[in-house]
Amino acid sequence: MAYTAKNYDHLKGGAVKGLSDAQLDQHFTLYKGYITKLNEIEEKLGSVDNTKPNYSFNEYSELKRREAVAFNGSFLHELYFENLGGDAAVSSALASALDAQGGKDKLIADLKACALGGPGWAILTRNRRDGKLHTYFLAEHHIGLPVDQDLLVVLDSWEHAFMVDYGIARAKYLDAIVDAIKWSEVSKRFGK
Ligand SMILES: [Fe+2]
Repeated sequence: MAYTAKNYDHLKGGAVKGLSDAQLDQHFTLYKGYITKLNEIEEKLGSVDNTKPNYSFNEYSELKRREAVAFNGSFLHELYFENLGGDAAVSSALASALDAQGGKDKLIADLKACALGGPGWAILTRNRRDGKLHTYFLAEHHIGLPVDQDLLVVLDSWEHAFMVDYGIARAKYLDAIVDAIKWSEVSKRFGK
């Protein structure tokens, strides 16, 4: 199955406070590149010879090594774009889960601290093992994502997400982006 890039133009025109159209356009282009590569990798894997896998180099092995980069690169971006738009509609179930761990402000502060760790992703999840909310930092799309998680908030902390609008001021971008979280979408994810 070929994946199709989604259109997020509705986020432009000031819908995400703190992100300009120029910044979003750059990011949409980058996201579409991951979808293209994901389709390319899956197509090649459909016909490549898998009988001589190799640690140093083999086409099949290399495609397998990069498959999760393109997959997570595609869908982490979709989760990110879809949890932007800025509303405060936290469901009562999510509010209870946030309160049980010190409250929304405390968890958001921790999410920002994660994101300040460097280029990568900061995520708020529901860990299915202990049922609690957790924050995690992923240094790359395919490295550091713990298993058995429901991804609730996904924040892109790679420079390409903010350089146009904020230069190297990652903290200023993060201040703006946590205020632009669309809590109705987060609540929907939590309710699933
Ligand atoms: Fe990104």
